[in-house]
Amino acid sequence: MICASLCHTDILCCNGLPVPLFPRIPGHEGVGTVESVGENVTGLKEGDVVMPLYLGECGGCLNCKSGKTNLCHAYPLNFNGLMPDGTSRMSVEGEKIYHHFSCSTWSEYVVIDSNYVVKVDPRMALPHASFLACGFTTGYGAAWREVEVKKGSTVAVLGLGAVGLGVVEGARVQGAARIVGVDLNDLKREKGEAFGMTEFINPKNSAGKSVSDLLKEATGGLGVDYCFECTGVVPLLDEAIEASKVGLGTVVLIGAGLETSGNIKFIPLLCGRTLKGSIYGGVRPQSDLPTIIDKCINKEIQLDKLLTHEVSIHEINKAFGLLKQPDCVKVLIKF
Ligand SMILES: NC(=O)c1ccc[n+]([C@@H]2O[C@H](COP(=O)([O-])OP(=O)(O)OC[C@H]3O[C@@H](n4cnc5c(N)ncnc54)[C@H](O)[C@@H]3O)[C@@H](O)[C@H]2O)c1
Ligand SMILES: [Zn+2]
Ligand SMILES: [Zn+2]
Repeated sequence: MICASLCHTDILCCNGLPVPLFPRIPGHEGVGTVESVGENVTGLKEGDVVMPLYLGECGGCLNCKSGKTNLCHAYPLNFNGLMPDGTSRMSVEGEKIYHHFSCSTWSEYVVIDSNYVVKVDPRMALPHASFLACGFTTGYGAAWREVEVKKGSTVAVLGLGAVGLGVVEGARVQGAARIVGVDLNDLKREKGEAFGMTEFINPKNSAGKSVSDLLKEATGGLGVDYCFECTGVVPLLDEAIEASKVGLGTVVLIGAGLETSGNIKFIPLLCGRTLKGSIYGGVRPQSDLPTIIDKCINKEIQLDKLLTHEVSIHEINKAFGLLKQPDCVKVLIKF
């Protein structure tokens, strides 16, 4: 590995979610150089710079052929902490160590199924490539691939971490007329604006009003066309549903939290709103990711604003504290 980064989901993983497999090496964002390849591997060679990913794309299964989803049946999101062949390739003093998804990027060396690897164009800044391995792409793709935000629409984004900022950028590129960011941290206003957010709401400064009331107030009572939940705070899912337009609104659930279940209020959802869950923003690693990489190389997408902190792999535990600091968006991990 050359560098890696921290996504909020790594915090969940270290807390034993979704499956408490320990000991485990976390990390699912990063960039590395191919050190060697197995005998049946084609299309990759020693020295290639690559991103290990947690989804593959076979191109031939029902889901891949549908063109509508990135959740491939052959190379799925893997929660069992093992390689696709059922083995672990890591150990410490003889004890098995579990993988995290298919990658475990917080490690000097990674053994990965080549179907979960994407080549990186050498013109791409390596920290930026690391951020594309999950957080930013997830948000960007949610607006682009998952729901194809319509030109002229009004979009709300709950939570302006790397994921939420990706949604802001994706909605801007799709031509949204208004992009309202919601975050408890005032420092996220400047970050959101850098990616194209047009309005900012901090619910803490709003005299106890709910997020849905604030978003309805901002939209003449109608609510928004699209509301993206990017915090993982369970009660905000109901707020996102309430904040979207009756009959027309779409809510995209991206955030995952320490509480993995909650009760959704039925009536607001029954009133014609659409609720869509999203993994990696619906982005297909082989068919879609290169488009985002090209936009970064051409500077149509600027990721410099995401990088706020750096740690070495030897001080990895500091990264968790850093992500809680108000001025932090992305922590880069150097090897
Ligand atoms: N579905 C997927 O494929 C996918 C991929 C990546 C991350 N995630 C999840 O998306 C979420 C965001 O990830 P991230 O890396 O951007 O996290 P992050 O911690 O960097 O950002 C979260 C943001 O939400 C804000 N926030 C927290 N509570 C809030 C509240 N009550 N109201 C308004 N704002 C609030 C925080 O201030 C912060 O700016 C996490 O739950 C993560 O696990 C899901
Ligand atoms: Zn497939
Ligand atoms: Zn992630």
